[in-house]
Amino acid sequence: MRVLGIETSCDETAAAVYDGARGLLAHEVHSQIAIHAAYGGVVPELAARDHLGKLAPLLRRVLEAAGGGEGGRFAAPVDGIAYTSGPGLVGALLVGGAVARSLAYAWRIPCLGVHHLEAHLLAPLLEPDPPRFPFVALLVSGGHTLLARVDGVGCYEILGSTLDDAAGEAFDKTAKLLGLAYPGGPQLAALAERGRPDAFRFPRPLVDRPGLDFSFSGLKTAVVVALRHRVLDEQTRADAARAFEDAVVDTLIAKSERAVAATGVGTLVVAGGVGANRVLRARLRAWGEREGVRVVYPRREFCTDNAAMIALLGHLRLAAGAAGDLAIRARARWGLEELAPPAEARSGASA
Ligand code: KG4
Ligand code: ZN
Repeated sequence: MRVLGIETSCDETAAAVYDGARGLLAHEVHSQIAIHAAYGGVVPELAARDHLGKLAPLLRRVLEAAGGGEGGRFAAPVDGIAYTSGPGLVGALLVGGAVARSLAYAWRIPCLGVHHLEAHLLAPLLEPDPPRFPFVALLVSGGHTLLARVDGVGCYEILGSTLDDAAGEAFDKTAKLLGLAYPGGPQLAALAERGRPDAFRFPRPLVDRPGLDFSFSGLKTAVVVALRHRVLDEQTRADAARAFEDAVVDTLIAKSERAVAATGVGTLVVAGGVGANRVLRARLRAWGEREGVRVVYPRREFCTDNAAMIALLGHLRLAAGAAGDLAIRARARWGLEELAPPAEARSGASA
């Protein structure tokens, strides 16, 4: 079975084709960063409009690269379509949903709305040596931060999540404080490479308390307080970035360690945009080697938003018999724990 994946939940327009026998055949991402940078964050209306302009040419390129041609007038180049139906910006989601649903109708093939975070969790299955179930997943993105036990497709137990800001959001807000352009996470990480260790020390939120929840909003306040009466020269900014990154990484590692110990599961998967962070990757890998825990990441381009993970998830669910209906689904909020395995799910987006 060959599935076209479409992702438009936020500020990346992406399309991909996944083939059950041959794996990923093509994928492409168009980033809207240049459009939103001037506003310091994603402007939902601009995001939706840009998806509208970019999606059709992107789809054409990806379908051509996958070798299916454009399908002619009635012949379908794929056997099914999956689109991100939430969580995300509703206007942006509707663009991908409407295009996916219309193509599926014209091509007379099944079409399924899928969960963006579920796709992030399962993205490591795109790699040549994929993790086996069960695994613990640390999902750290711009909108979400959580730890989950994953027993199979649709079998997620949330072990802990953030009480306020997501880790990526904390990176982006702190980057803004340090004068970096949106989205600041990767730039803050680059600046931190020039920072000196221990020039500042910020708290490791909730690490001294039991449980697996996170809280990152206080960290940015700690950065504001520490820099209040300082001259913000290049070295001071780099030192603050380094201390901030160390605090976030220490916290993520402490809670991941605790989740692995509590579940007794020997594999930790790291997913979502912050999973692209080099310090987090290196330190978790070293910890895993020490403790005998297998630590698995998707390649960096599949940590951040992409459609390869949407096409893969669509394939996993459609090939297992899930069937969508004619509705175009878009949900701003959608909990992972609402999902069911494909055999039990009448639709991947049943709400
Ligand atoms: O998963 P993602 O692409 O989009 C969401 O679904 O949220 O994650 C984007 C987030 C942003 O907050 C971005 O700043 C952060 O991931 N990010 C990073 C790095 N690369 C992306 N944060 C820290 N270090 C990085 N290298
Ligand atoms: Zn994402």
